[in-house]
Formats: sequence, C-alpha cells, structure tokens
Amino acid sequence: MRPKICVPIVASLRDRIVKEAADVSRLPVQMAEWRVDFYAGYARETASIVREIKEVLGDKELIVTLRTEYEGGEPNGSRFDYFGLLEELLDQGEADYVDAEISRDPVRLKELCRRYADSPTKVIGSYHDFQQTPSEDCIVRTLEKAKECGCAAGKFACMPVDPEDVDTLLTATARFKEKDHEYPVITMSMGEMGVKSRLYGGLYGSCISFGCVDRTSAPGQIPCTQMTEVFDKIYRDPKHIFLIGFMGTGKSTVAKELQYRSGKPEIDTDAWIEEREGRSIRDMFEAEGEEYFRDQETAMLDELGLQKSSVVSCGGGMVLRELNIRKMRALGRIVLLTAAPETVYDRVKASTDRPLLQDQMNVDHIREMMEMRMPFYERAADICVVTDNRMICDIAREILDRI
Ligand code: S3P
Repeated sequence: MRPKICVPIVASLRDRIVKEAADVSRLPVQMAEWRVDFYAGYARETASIVREIKEVLGDKELIVTLRTEYEGGEPNGSRFDYFGLLEELLDQGEADYVDAEISRDPVRLKELCRRYADSPTKVIGSYHDFQQTPSEDCIVRTLEKAKECGCAAGKFACMPVDPEDVDTLLTATARFKEKDHEYPVITMSMGEMGVKSRLYGGLYGSCISFGCVDRTSAPGQIPCTQMTEVFDKIYRDPKHIFLIGFMGTGKSTVAKELQYRSGKPEIDTDAWIEEREGRSIRDMFEAEGEEYFRDQETAMLDELGLQKSSVVSCGGGMVLRELNIRKMRALGRIVLLTAAPETVYDRVKASTDRPLLQDQMNVDHIREMMEMRMPFYERAADICVVTDNRMICDIAREILDRI
C-alpha cells in the first residue's frame, strides 16, 4: 500500500500557520499535521484556526496534534488543557483526525473515543519512545491497545539504537497487520537510521509517512518532494507482474515469454539471490538452512521496489510468508500458475537443484507438498492460470489479457 504523505505545520502565530497550510495545499502530499504545541497565540482561538487551516488546505486531510513534552513536543503545549482541547475539536468535527497519546490516561481516552464515536473527527492513538526501540511484542501490544481504546488508528514512533531496531519496528508492523488486516496503523523508526521505515513502511502495512517541507517536527523526516519521487518508484500500481506457483509450474519459462511480449525485463528471484550470495540455493540450504534462504527472499522484495516495472518469477516458496505477500501486493499484480502433480513431476524429475524435492522426487510427495501450499498460493493470487497441456504463448497471452 502506498502510504499517504503527511507534513507538519509548525509556525507559532496564526498568520504564519495559515500561510504554511496554504503552502502545503500546493504540495504533492495528502495530509498536513498541525502541531498545536508549536502555537504561541491564544489557546481559545485553536478551534477557529483549525477551521481556517481546513479551508486553506482544500482536499488535503488534517491531523491536529497537541504533542506533550513527554512525547517529544514543545514546552509551549503544556499550557493547554489536553483532554479539554481534544473534546473541543471532537465536538467541532472539522479536523479529520486528532492525535491522542495512549499512555497518558488510557481510561479517559477510551471514554473519549466512546463518547465521540460519531464525530466526523477520528482519534489516532499514538505512542512515542525517543530513547530506544521496544521489543516487537511491546510494539504490537501498544497498537492493539490503541484499538482497544476505540481509536480509529494506532501510531507508534520509536528511536533506533542500531539498524536491527528498524527491522524490529517494521516486522512488528507486519505482524500486527497479519492478524488485523483492516485496522490502520502508522509506524516509524525515527532519526537518520530510521529513514528506511519512512520510505518502505508501506510495504509492511504502515498507512501514513511523515515528511517535512523545510522544518522538521520529528527527527529523521525527509523532504516530502523526495518522498514522493521515491514513492512513485516503489508504489507504482500495478508495477511488477509476479509469477507464483509450485516448483515446475512454468514460472521461469512463462516469465521469458512475457518479457518478449511485454518488453518488461525478467527477474528471477532464485537467480538474483544466488548471484548476490555467490552460491547455489542447494548450497545455501545445506550450509545455513531453509530459514536463511527465506530471509533472503523477504529482503530482496524491498530492493524490487526500486527496479523498473518487471516480470518477476518467484521461487515456489515465496508466498509462505504473509509479509512477502503483503510486499508483492504493494508492488504489483500476482499471477498464480498451476499444474497437476503429474505434470510437475514430468517437468522437474531430471532437476538436481531443488533441495526440497531432492530426496523425494515422486508424484506423491509433490502432491502432498502442493496441497499443503495451495491455501497460501490462493490467498496471494490476483489471478490464476492453468498451465497443463498448454502452449507457453497461450499462457502468456491469457496473463496479459487478464491483468
Ligand atoms: C522452492 C522453490 C525453488 C527455490 C527453492 C525453494 C520452494 O524455486 O526457490 O528451491 O520452496 O518451492 P522454483 O519454484 O523456481 O523451483
């Protein structure tokens, strides 16, 4: 999913705030966040400023945020009555979202969400950690808490201390979305190290990415124009054609035919990984085990984001991870090729480079594995194409006709 880009409005006085909103209305972004804690004028004017910002922003959505110092906000914000302001804005119903900190007073937040369930303004339940990245479990639990409180979306921002922390945040995001496809989450790893999460977060399920115009409101924000350029490359829809299916269903052969017919280059995920690693898949399985190879598959899908529109022939097990399916969906259309176990056996019986069939090259084993995997293939596929007893050119034509 291509995340919406949101930029902050951080001026301190009314005129400048409205001027910043007018500037945002001309930018290639979908949302603005007014950070009320940067505002230095009369607190009683807040709601009328929200109205003016909305008018100036046109069709862009508005999040209004009073960030407390504890969650990285400006000292200025402490003069507001926190829940009083949220209530006023939810009553007013003109902002699209208000941000409410989950850890401040969860009981009161739950009550607020319940009371204002019908307000056109929705609550985003947020949590920030500027010191470190908590565990994957803790991130998932916090997002669950936002939902339990009745917030319309959950937001989690934390600071990486080493590069693995960025992966922890992204993996936690994907783990949450695996269990709960529908609930919107916004996650980010802050600082320079976390930039990857602002660009690739959409592949993991984050629905908004915060950038900046010239002044940042949180560490690690990158200019929204650069974000748009990268997003255009990553999330062009439908960008790649992914061919999935069991071993021997003809993915590589059909990919070559599609390359010939569509002019899109062909990428074979197995060959890509073998080249990167400088060794065969069989050697990888033998030396490091299957999980290691699966990790390489998951990692290469991020790199595919920056490749030009291609036909991607995937290893037969690519769909076994829900995260891979999510990434492929964000990057293009997924075509499932099928064949009967007997057909597959005929096609692969002479091959020695498929470690999962190596010791059991027979129709029964192929059938058993195929049945086990079929739910994964079917869940991932946008379209399904049968390949038994068909000419390659017919299969390719059908795919191009249907996508
Ligand atoms: C695998 C299929 C292979 C290769 C690896 C694992 C699988 O790709 O990725 O041996 O788990 O089905 P092909 O489907 O191209 O043979």
